[in-house]
Amino acid sequence: MSRAATRVLALANQKGGVGKTTTAINLGTALAAVGERVLIIDLDPQGNASTGLGIEQRNRSTFDVLTGDATILEAKVATHVPRLSIVPATIDLMSFEREAGNASGKHYRFRDCLAELTASESVDERTTYVLIDCPPSLNLLTLNALAAADACLCPCQCEFFALEGLAQLLSTVEEIRVRLNPKLRIHGVVLTMYDQRTSLSDQVVEDVRAVLGEKVYTTVIPRNVRVAESPSHGKPVLLYDYKCSGSQAYIQLASEVIERERRIRAA
Ligand SMILES: Nc1ncnc2c1ncn2[C@@H]1O[C@H](COP(=O)(O)OP(=O)(O)O)[C@@H](O)[C@H]1O
Ligand SMILES: [Mg+2]
Repeated sequence: MSRAATRVLALANQKGGVGKTTTAINLGTALAAVGERVLIIDLDPQGNASTGLGIEQRNRSTFDVLTGDATILEAKVATHVPRLSIVPATIDLMSFEREAGNASGKHYRFRDCLAELTASESVDERTTYVLIDCPPSLNLLTLNALAAADACLCPCQCEFFALEGLAQLLSTVEEIRVRLNPKLRIHGVVLTMYDQRTSLSDQVVEDVRAVLGEKVYTTVIPRNVRVAESPSHGKPVLLYDYKCSGSQAYIQLASEVIERERRIRAA
């Protein structure tokens, strides 16, 4: 397979608490479980993806990568999950926007770092998926992610204002496609924290599907306490409780993502 087959997906939504980080960790784990080589990039200064994967030591971070003090290869660390690694984040990331100032190409720092990584990898060690966990705002970090990504994967919480938030997100992606990255597309919208006990959840699923149609993945991630508990054990939910509904949903999402990738490649 060619190097171009490294796929870069940005997990983005300007809203916080919708499941971006949870999806990065657990979709990443599920993809690795079926043989993909996955690299998570923690681009949120909160560093929840790093903590949730049990990474305590952070000698090098995404900040060092963005500022040119380390390569991705130097900064990435292995996790407990075979074939899943992460470039951890530290609170330094908060100062990235200030540090970048008006430098030309500041939107493309991350894209350039990734290009360096893919050029250095041999065919057998090639990263097949890069998942970028974005912060909950449309700042320079998120713009760097979207400028580097092939596609955007949008977690959307099953709640009352879901559609409004999504409409805003989709128009942002369109704007970025025009301004920064013509190859950017929407990979899909994943509905998260679905609560089968409430009719509101069903209503949201129905409305989002009515408006966005095939952009919405068939898989819906249920609200599941095991999913919420697992980060405090430094583990993806698939390692914490493989059989729970949340784990099974992320396994299903991973196969849908792979299936969409096949179709994109065949097109
Ligand atoms: N499917 C789920 N079931 C239960 N809790 C969830 C689920 N997905 C996410 N959460 C919890 O919701 C909160 C927000 O999720 P998170 O992934 O951190 O969102 P974001 O990265 O978009 O801010 C976290 O406390 C997380 O553990
Ligand atoms: Mg997050």
